[in-house]
Amino acid sequence: ENPVEQAAVDATLIGGEDAAFAGGSYVIVQKYLHDLAGWNRLPVEMQEKIIGRAKLSDIEQEDALKAPYAHNVLTSIEENGEALEILRDNMPFGDAGKGEFGTYFIGYARSPRRIEQMLENMFVGRPPGNYDRLLDFSRAVTGSLFFVPSATFLDDVAADAGAPAAGEAAPPEPEAAASPGLRPSGGDGSLGIGSLKRKADHE
Ligand code: HEM
Repeated sequence: ENPVEQAAVDATLIGGEDAAFAGGSYVIVQKYLHDLAGWNRLPVEMQEKIIGRAKLSDIEQEDALKAPYAHNVLTSIEENGEALEILRDNMPFGDAGKGEFGTYFIGYARSPRRIEQMLENMFVGRPPGNYDRLLDFSRAVTGSLFFVPSATFLDDVAADAGAPAAGEAAPPEPEAAASPGLRPSGGDGSLGIGSLKRKADHE
């Protein structure tokens, strides 16, 4: 159920609604650990209700037959009659030695709001209390939101950093850094942290 082609672009890339950041994206990542023993104790019928899909055939349940708390019901959101999609790049992982198994949730969207809305539906419930039963067997142990700039955005940042904008005074010469290794290197735009080799004038 991931969007593909143009639908994936529409779901993930910032557009005219935030022109300065157009072409960028947002990604939310969360590391979930699963109580697989507990999950495996559930009757398959209950597992299917929680996911909203048949386990063996992998066929999605009819919408009318889905439980109101099914994962694919609570994460389906819309605005003005249109589905607000995200692009998921989840990675299952496991460490059999530690008995640790999980899902690394990775979701891209053109606005973090739609992922946050899905999270609210999962954790608080829609309506409140009708939460995602996956969470009875899964807990998020990390979570972060990142802005993903476009390559053009980064190029512009680098260009702006190198040359003062029109009308701006040139930045004052930086004072000698405490560590010669951290001294800004002669105006090439680099922070000068790439080399451990001292310049002759500091020796
Ligand atoms: C415990 C971690 C998670 C697991 C194991 C999990 C598992 C799944 C599975 C098995 C599906 C396929 C269901 C189907 O489409 O029939 C699915 C779909 C989906 N999940 Fe998750 N998921 C997790 C976390 C999340 C989170 C945190 C979000 C968003 C905040 C999310 C959003 C979605 C969306 C949007 C779909 C597509 C639903 C659809 O269009 O039918 N998932 N997930």
